[in-house]
Amino acid sequence: MAELRFDGRVAIVTGAGQGLGRQHALELAARGAKVVVNDLGGSLHGSGSSAGPAAAVVEEIKKNGGEAVASTDNVATPEGAEAIVRTALDVFGKVDIVVNNAGILRDKSFKNMVPEEFDQVLAVHLRGSFLVTHAAWPHLREQAYGRVVMTTSPAGLFGNFGQANYSSAKMGLVGLTKTLAAEGAKYNIKVNAIAPIAWTRMTEELFPPEYKEKLSVELVTPVVAWLAHETNASTGETYSVGGGRVARVFVAEGPGFTKQGGLSVEDVRDNWQQINEVEPYLLAKDIGEQTMAVFNAIN
Ligand code: NAI
Repeated sequence: MAELRFDGRVAIVTGAGQGLGRQHALELAARGAKVVVNDLGGSLHGSGSSAGPAAAVVEEIKKNGGEAVASTDNVATPEGAEAIVRTALDVFGKVDIVVNNAGILRDKSFKNMVPEEFDQVLAVHLRGSFLVTHAAWPHLREQAYGRVVMTTSPAGLFGNFGQANYSSAKMGLVGLTKTLAAEGAKYNIKVNAIAPIAWTRMTEELFPPEYKEKLSVELVTPVVAWLAHETNASTGETYSVGGGRVARVFVAEGPGFTKQGGLSVEDVRDNWQQINEVEPYLLAKDIGEQTMAVFNAIN
């Protein structure tokens, strides 16, 4: 089978100055894409900014014979998001691929988390992904082609102590992914999410040193590149990726308990075990299929 190429494609990768985003940008560029390397260049907690990281990645891509342009715009503001997409259009004439990867952390136990810490994390991850994709969307629709990759997290999918803000943002991205998959279907816009695990500045204090190699960012990027490729037909899905392992993560509904003609609190208590059954589960492809399951049960 032929190598997967991105010749003629234009990609935006947010937060591409280091870590996972940098690797995504390098890989897409190495395979022929023209890349907007966006990075605000701030700290892990989102303070400060620097043009250095994005410029360094652009330089690296060019040195390897690829094409790239740097953007230091902030994904979390409408102006910043517009400017990122405008850079793609002005420099490369279009946009085909959006990889929403930029992110920050403000970890705190829920008791100690102040509203600003909640808002700031949602602003970058969830609102930022919304804004950048929203700015690109009319162009993707118009050309009837687009590939969007969101970056969610196991912390969002499964919960994590001290990350009420981050997990809310990350699970929000799963909903956004599914809805954009539905809205993009008619226009050949495929929207998927990855839930990575990799050794970066975000995680280097969490993992023992021997995991630096085992969880390298190189082992996440192939899934992003595949989801961004024109031959990928999947949409609305989430994939857990790390260390060379790739698995689909899904939201499903159990068979449930149905009682016609009125449901009492005691019915709920007495059937709690059946209500909590997970098999056979329904993996609804959209809300229509899920609603139909409810209708079928009550009719
Ligand atoms: P990182 O800190 O190395 O990279 C994130 C980049 O985003 C930084 O270069 C930062 O400057 C940039 N950024 C932050 N706010 C920005 C803004 N407002 N506008 C533009 N750029 C901004 O972290 P890492 O690990 O590479 O994370 C990438 C993504 O993967 C994040 O969304 C993160 O939440 C997610 N993730 C990472 C995991 C891991 O194991 N490393 C686990 C689960 C999710």
